[in-house]
Amino acid sequence: MEKKSVIILGATGSIGLQTLEVIKKLPDFELSGIVFGKNLTLARKIIKENKIENYYSPFYPNYKFSSLEEFLENLKPNIVVSAIPGFDGMISSLKAIKYTKRLALATKEALVCAGPFVKQECKKFNVELIPIDSEHSAIFQIFDNFVERIMITASGGAVRNIKTGKLSKLTPKDILKHPVWNMGKRITVDSSTMVNKAFEVMEAYELFETNNIDVYIHPTGTVHGAVLLKDGTVKIHFGFPDMKIPIAYSLTYPERKYINTNWPEFSSKNFEFYEVDKEKYPAFFYGKTILNDLSKRIAFNAADEIAVERFLKEEIKFTQISEIIIKTCEQIKGKVNSIDDIIEIDKISRKYAKNI
Ligand SMILES: NC(=O)c1ccc[n+]([C@@H]2O[C@H](COP(=O)([O-])OP(=O)(O)OC[C@H]3O[C@@H](n4cnc5c(N)ncnc54)[C@H](OP(=O)(O)O)[C@@H]3O)[C@@H](O)[C@H]2O)c1
Repeated sequence: MEKKSVIILGATGSIGLQTLEVIKKLPDFELSGIVFGKNLTLARKIIKENKIENYYSPFYPNYKFSSLEEFLENLKPNIVVSAIPGFDGMISSLKAIKYTKRLALATKEALVCAGPFVKQECKKFNVELIPIDSEHSAIFQIFDNFVERIMITASGGAVRNIKTGKLSKLTPKDILKHPVWNMGKRITVDSSTMVNKAFEVMEAYELFETNNIDVYIHPTGTVHGAVLLKDGTVKIHFGFPDMKIPIAYSLTYPERKYINTNWPEFSSKNFEFYEVDKEKYPAFFYGKTILNDLSKRIAFNAADEIAVERFLKEEIKFTQISEIIIKTCEQIKGKVNSIDDIIEIDKISRKYAKNI
């Protein structure tokens, strides 16, 4: 059998490196190329260890390929794993759709800021869109025609057990300790404001085309999601929080070829759920109200990026992150007809968020 070729966009990052580990354990898959950013030392190591001939970075364009399109056009991989964060990740995900058969998507901004465009392009080019984010992968695995509601879980971040009145005193150091996942700085702060969960609700809205999305705080991270069916049945997705599992599924779907017999215990602590506190996580609740307003979703993402940067530089308090996001979104209105519109709204929102 011919091996399935995979390209990783963002190979030197957290998702990228875990994808490399997964591919090594899947004999039917081969890495045919990587895209990376500025970390040339790590990229060189990956290239050498995996004997890769084709690679691309927009920061070192004097290599074999002069653009991402040229690189993808030459390789035409079976699967593109999209794991470049931010706006660059959104644009590269959209570009990749034209040159592959499956987009395994980790980049949140692609669906949050350009969901309708990503889906439209996938339809046009007959490309499968498979989510990598653990909650969306979970729902994707248990979804069927009889779903009435979706439930995804949240850790509540580093502030889960802290009283709301004390939040404004928290420093970046306090926030950067995440109880379940070990991730980059922005996503760790986004877990504590639950802005990350608002992004995930937006992504779920695009992927599963429903407004009926509930979120519960679930400390152990062992239940990733559930679907509530018309006949009273609830299907729950249960497993350790390990990104390699959903990454592997995005590659091998509809089969399961990744071997990992490390299952969590059926103990009561692995099935604890709590309501999300409205006062503690205002940006999350605001985010849930703007699901069908793409311009506000773009503003939500842009303002969050600026506010998190400002918080990490200790220019603003932790609680002001949510304030900046909500104030920015309230200023932004209008239809989004093109990628240029997305870029324009993003720019205006960032400017606004910087000046609050
Ligand atoms: N980490 C997780 O557990 C997780 C879970 C679910 C979803 N996600 C989402 O997945 C995406 C990736 O997350 P991550 O944690 O893997 O991020 P990360 O560790 O920061 O890695 C980012 C990767 O993208 C590359 N990159 C950045 N800008 C680039 C550009 N303009 N062109 C080409 N490459 C560029 C980086 O290259 P250099 O390092 O070489 O500069 C690096 O390889 C994010 O959107 C995140 O929200 C992550």
